[in-house]
Amino acid sequence: MSETARIILEGQEYEFPVLTGSENEKAIDISKLRGTTGYITLDPGFKNTGSTQSGITYLDGENGVLRYRGYSIEELAEKASFMEVAYLLIYGELPNKEQLDYFNDSITHHTLVHENMKRFFEAFPLGAHPMGMLSSMVASLSTFYPESQNPNRDITDIEKTMHRLIAKMPTLAAQAYKHNTGLPTMYPKNDLSYVGNFMHMMWGVPSEDYKVDPVIESALNKLFILHADHEQNCSTSTVRVVGSSQANLYSSVSAGIAALWGPLHGGANQAVIEMLEAIRAEGTPLQSWIDRAKDKTDSFRLMGFGHRVYKNFDPRARIIKKAADDVLAQLGVNDPVLDIAKQLEEVALNDEYFVQRGLYPNVDFYSGIIYRALGIPTDMFTVMFALGRLPGWIGQWKEMTENREPIGRPRQVYTGATQRAFVALNDRA
Ligand code: SDX
Repeated sequence: MSETARIILEGQEYEFPVLTGSENEKAIDISKLRGTTGYITLDPGFKNTGSTQSGITYLDGENGVLRYRGYSIEELAEKASFMEVAYLLIYGELPNKEQLDYFNDSITHHTLVHENMKRFFEAFPLGAHPMGMLSSMVASLSTFYPESQNPNRDITDIEKTMHRLIAKMPTLAAQAYKHNTGLPTMYPKNDLSYVGNFMHMMWGVPSEDYKVDPVIESALNKLFILHADHEQNCSTSTVRVVGSSQANLYSSVSAGIAALWGPLHGGANQAVIEMLEAIRAEGTPLQSWIDRAKDKTDSFRLMGFGHRVYKNFDPRARIIKKAADDVLAQLGVNDPVLDIAKQLEEVALNDEYFVQRGLYPNVDFYSGIIYRALGIPTDMFTVMFALGRLPGWIGQWKEMTENREPIGRPRQVYTGATQRAFVALNDRA
C-alpha cells in the first residue's frame, strides 16, 4: 500500500501521497493542498521544499555524495572530459565515440559570435564586471537567433540553441576578459579542445602562436566538471523558473548567470580570495575572523564555508583542495593565500560554532586559489563557475521543457494593510 501523510486542519483529517525517489528520498506531494484545504505551506528559501522531480544530479548532504546521472563526481573528475560530462548532463548517457565526435564537431563549428557583438563590448566601461557583461551578452544571443524564441520548442531549434550556447559562452567570456585588459580579442581555433580553445582566446595574442599548457588544460577540465551541475541550487532554480514561462534558453541562462553572481552563491569564489587577501594584509589572528563570523551583529561571514545541502564535507572541495596542491606544485607557484586558507579551515573546523552548524569548506573555498595560480583575475572567477555550470543549466532547462512543467509561480502569506479607503492628498498627515 502506498505511503501517505495525514494532516489535521480545523479538526478535519487530510491525506496526501508520499513520493519516494530512486535514492529513497521521501517527499509529501502537496500539489493538491490548497485545492483541498485552502491552506498553503510557507518555507522561506525553500529549505524544505522540492520544486521538481529530476533525473540529472543526486547529492547527499549528510554523506558528501555527488553524482551526475548516477556517475560519482570523483570518477568523472578523474576520468572524463568536460565535453563528455556536458553530453551526459544534457542527454542522460555518456556518449559513445560517434556521439562524442558529433557533439564536439557541432560545438567547435558554432564558437564564433556575430561581429556586431564586438560593438556591445566597446560600449561597456573599462573595468566592467565580467559577470555583468556575460549575462547581457548571453541574453543578446537570443536576438541573433530568433528561432530560439519559438515557444513551441521545436527539437531541432532546441538542439541548435543548446550547442550554440555551449560553443559561444567561452568566446564571450574571453572577450569580456580581453575587454578589461585592452588586449586584442582572439578568434576561436577549431583544432583545439573546448578547454584549450578557451585558454587560447583568453591568453593568446595575434603576434604569437599560443601553446596550450596541458597542466592548465587538465586543471580547468577538472574544475569545469566539478562545477557542472548541482541539482536545484539558486541559479539552476532561476534558469528553470525563467524557462517555465517559455522564455528562450539564452534568456533563462542569462538569468542564471545573474543569480550565480551573488556572493552567497557562485560569487563566493571571488569573495573568498578577497577575504583571504584581507586576512593576509591585516595579519590579524585567524580566530578573530572566526569570531566575527560568529557575531550576529557583524554582517561578516566566512566566505567559502557552509552550504544549504552539505552539512558535512562538500566532495568537490576535497577534490579541489588536492588539485590546488597539485597545480601549484606543477606550476611552481607558492601562494601564501593557500597556506592561509588551509590554516583557516583548520581553525574553523575546530570551532564548536562551525562544527555544530555543519559549516565546512564548500566548492568555492579553494577554487579561487587555482584560478589565481592559472593567472585568472579575481573578477573572472565567477565567470569560470558559470562556464562550468552551463551544461547543468542547459540539461535542467531541457528536462523542465520536455516535462512541460507548469510556470513557476509560488504563493504567499499576505501580512500587509487590510482594506482601507483612499485619502485625498490634502487630507494626508
Ligand atoms: C554555492 O546550493 C548549491 O548547491 C550552491 C553551490 C552550487 O554548486 O550551486 O554549491 C555553490 O553557492 C556554494 C555556497 C557559496 N557561498 C558561500 O560560501 C557564502 C558563505 N556561506 C553562506 O552564506 C551560507 O552558508 C550559505 C548561503 C551557503 C547557506 O546558507 P543557508 O543554508 O541559508 O544557511 P543559513 O544561512 O541558514 O545558516 C545556518 C547557520 C546560521 O547561524 P544560526 O542562525 O543557526 O545561528 O549557519 C550560519 C548562519 O549564520 N552560517 C554561517 C555561515 N554560513 C552559515 N556563519 C558564518 N559564516 C558562514 N559562512
